[in-house]
Amino acid sequence: MEKPLGIIGGGNMGEALIAGLIHSGLLSPAEILFSEPRPERRAYLQEKFRVSFAETNRDLVTRAPTLILAVKPQSVPEVLAEIAQSLKPHHLIISICAGVPLDYIQSFIPRPIRMVRAMPNTPALIQKGATALAPSPAAQAKDLSTAEAIFQAVGITAIVKESQMDAVTGLSGSGPAYVFAVIEALAAGGVKEGLSQDVALNLTTQTVLGAAHLIQATAKHPATLRDQVCTPGGTTMAGLYAMEEGGFRLALMNAVIAATQRSKELGEALQKLPSSSPPGRTKKIVDRLHKSARGGLKVTRKLH
Ligand SMILES: NC(=O)c1ccc[n+]([C@@H]2O[C@H](COP(=O)([O-])OP(=O)(O)OC[C@H]3O[C@@H](n4cnc5c(N)ncnc54)[C@H](OP(=O)(O)O)[C@@H]3O)[C@@H](O)[C@H]2O)c1
Repeated sequence: MEKPLGIIGGGNMGEALIAGLIHSGLLSPAEILFSEPRPERRAYLQEKFRVSFAETNRDLVTRAPTLILAVKPQSVPEVLAEIAQSLKPHHLIISICAGVPLDYIQSFIPRPIRMVRAMPNTPALIQKGATALAPSPAAQAKDLSTAEAIFQAVGITAIVKESQMDAVTGLSGSGPAYVFAVIEALAAGGVKEGLSQDVALNLTTQTVLGAAHLIQATAKHPATLRDQVCTPGGTTMAGLYAMEEGGFRLALMNAVIAATQRSKELGEALQKLPSSSPPGRTKKIVDRLHKSARGGLKVTRKLH
């Protein structure tokens, strides 16, 4: 990796990456620079990790050859407008901005730039993330290796095509929320059957953790492991039958499909916005897109 690494945006993900990179030993604090508009946030990150900050994004870009774009999607146009002219052929941009296509980023930059799009998830905050990586056409093998090393510091990585990023968003990106809902529902079942809230939640959380670890440790398909615990006519089979009756598996598959579709809609709407729009206007539109609880297609039509 070309050092130092510059992280644009010291929010939740920026902090998770700084923590993971230092904790794993991949980078020392002196090899990490970040930019962040909020003074109290800067002070916090400096104090906690001893990393340095750059006064402006442009200053960061001139000092760091490897860049991670870790701002909210709404802030992307503003950041790119600021740094576009300072980006040189030696730069690599790794974007973690959900739903922001690489083509959209490239449209702000006057020359082809090497990029990798990454989609981490929230467990990255505790170094248990699952991150998918997709290279841009101009990216080289070493760029993908750099991105892999960075995100392996906060969990596991998988390489996909950029066209599969919406599916990744619908699966592992949104997945923690599905699992939280599953844990909550299982624990509620325990409470309904007389367990205390605490006991039910602790048992459920450890059960989910243990089951996931068992899949990883044995490398067996979950269906095989499930069959191994199903005695004919037994309790687990009775529970699984009730889950099938309630449409559990179909509901989860539909959750992934719906989230994938929503991610596609947001990405398509963003790509239709000209990069020449003033950043402030684009920010407002992107904000509206992300806050919109209704179908993204309706919002897209309103925009044009
Ligand atoms: N959190 C997740 O689990 C997750 C998962 C996958 C992908 N992502 C993506 O990761 C990105 C960051 O998410 P996050 O949860 O870390 O958001 P966040 O906590 O809001 O962090 C973004 C940070 O960027 C700062 N910022 C805003 N404008 C800036 C500018 N012009 N220059 C430099 N920094 C600027 C923000 O400061 P202010 O607060 O002052 O605005 C904030 O501290 C998003 O694009 C998101 O889609 C997040």
